Amino acid sequence: MCGIVGILGSKPVATDLVDALRRLEYRGYDSAGIATVENGHLERRRAEGKLRNLESRLLSEPLTGRTGIGHTRWATHGRPTERNAHPHMSAKVSVVHNGIIENFRELKAELTAKGHSFETDTDTEAVVHLVSDELDQGRRPIDAVRAALGKLKGAFALGIIFAGEDDLMIAARQGSPLAIGHGRGEMYLGSDAIALAPFTDAITYLEEGDWAVMRRSGVEVFDRAGECVTRPLVKSVASSLLVDKGNHRHFMAKEIHEQPDVISHTLSNYLDMANARVAFPDLGVDLAKISRVTISACGTAYYAGLVGKYWIERYARLPVEIDVASEARYREAPLPDSGLALFVSQSGETADTLATLRYARANGQRIASIVNVRTSTIARESDAVLPTLAGPEIGVASTKAFTCQLAALACLAIALGKARGVISEAQEQELVTALVEVPRLISSMLHNEEQFVELAQALSKARDVLYLGRGSSYPIALEGALKLKEISYIHAEGYAAGELKHGPIALIDENVPVIVVAPEDDLLEKTVSNVQEVAARGGQIILISNANPEKIGCALAAHIVPPTAHPLTNPLIYAVPVQLLAYHTAVFMGTDVDQPRNLAKSVTVE
Ligand code: F6R
Repeated sequence: MCGIVGILGSKPVATDLVDALRRLEYRGYDSAGIATVENGHLERRRAEGKLRNLESRLLSEPLTGRTGIGHTRWATHGRPTERNAHPHMSAKVSVVHNGIIENFRELKAELTAKGHSFETDTDTEAVVHLVSDELDQGRRPIDAVRAALGKLKGAFALGIIFAGEDDLMIAARQGSPLAIGHGRGEMYLGSDAIALAPFTDAITYLEEGDWAVMRRSGVEVFDRAGECVTRPLVKSVASSLLVDKGNHRHFMAKEIHEQPDVISHTLSNYLDMANARVAFPDLGVDLAKISRVTISACGTAYYAGLVGKYWIERYARLPVEIDVASEARYREAPLPDSGLALFVSQSGETADTLATLRYARANGQRIASIVNVRTSTIARESDAVLPTLAGPEIGVASTKAFTCQLAALACLAIALGKARGVISEAQEQELVTALVEVPRLISSMLHNEEQFVELAQALSKARDVLYLGRGSSYPIALEGALKLKEISYIHAEGYAAGELKHGPIALIDENVPVIVVAPEDDLLEKTVSNVQEVAARGGQIILISNANPEKIGCALAAHIVPPTAHPLTNPLIYAVPVQLLAYHTAVFMGTDVDQPRNLAKSVTVE
């Protein structure tokens, strides 16, 4: 979380810094700030809230330096006020930081005892005083940073500039991504290549433990041991990924509507559509010999993985373990011989997912990842990458990345089933044909959005909403509840339908809408019993099902009817109505749909 930029420019850089920050706002938007070297001394402008507040500040108090750093914040230590906004600085050094300095309390105590006075509640300020302290002892900036880095614990990405140094910027990466951009007589630093796309497509990614000394003429990279190392210069495709909202009011709406296209694109990467066969890339491992799949992910990506578990167990008869990465990484679970560890992540940078990946690698697992950002750390640290071709997802609430993750997971389940001899060629054809139909079926639902607008008005009045699902619809109930709470701020919970009577049923009264995700499949009858239990207690049932309402046998407050599909593909189809319900409820309530409060798109802290 938090976005970092830096520019060693040939002209004043303030406007370009803000421009780059705009493309990083997905990483946090609690506050923003920039600092530049102005005639040898450091100056900064900062503002609480969205970037537009910083822009207004810069209009009245411009900065003219050609060397500068910028930051957009997702608050971890200290409230999201201007005082805590980055860059943090002393008279000698200015720092932008993404991540957490874990030993900042010890450092603060030490430095305070030495006479440094701290102004903010942030962990970052410890870096400022640490580097200043080294400079006070007569060290040159590069040596001061080298010494300071040796004292920092935690996960961080840093951009640092110095008073009196118009042609120097230092970057450091330990646990949070950093890209260095090469221009003509200019150099750039960014949390990702998209931030730098308008300036350059020539990118060097720093690796774990790297730190870099940047000047307008080029960059020198050092590894953790201080050895000068060569990191490849790659051509980034980020410039072609810059996006706008098109005719939509929000990125989220655009991304929901892109699903037929991007799912189709993702499927075509894993299927031979003409012959209705899976055409799975080589994972460098014999699929028939995998003893167990262990899936780890966070949030929405975890729910995609949970659907994957149902699919792989059902269609490949292969045991699957799944856990949220923030738990998996600390459980020290024994992992099997010949195990495949599978990680699901839109950004490919989620700190807990990455830590679990490293644990799995250290424990002898083959590592595969389903990621949307191919240049991400998780992708780079995997033995095999299964890309989702969703394109950049800007809305903080994940939609199209989720369904593309499902598409890739469904193909993996079929590939495993086939390799293990569990599914016949005829079954493979049936399943692949079902997947190929998904984009068309989702399209048909997207042409019928009016019903969600009406329903959203009723939902917006609820204080609590329950989502129920069974089998592979259970993760969709969880995802529906997550979508609603994150963008509308209405409290919502997803439950396995059969769990209702073990506690949550106590919550039900006539004011609690209960959204039931229940495609007509072999589990429908069981879910119907749960629906009747809700009805008997006066709950307002909103049914999402292609089943005839007569089969439900009780009054419904509303009935959304998705198209009939193969049981394999129902999670993909039913994901869309829960997204639309959340979206329209949030729009009706007037929340900030694309940038909901307290959230960020890329979660690089633990
Ligand atoms: C919710 C959402 C988050 C992410 C989670 C993992 O809409 O987007 O729950 O799914 O933070 O992020 P990635 O997929 O980037 O690892």
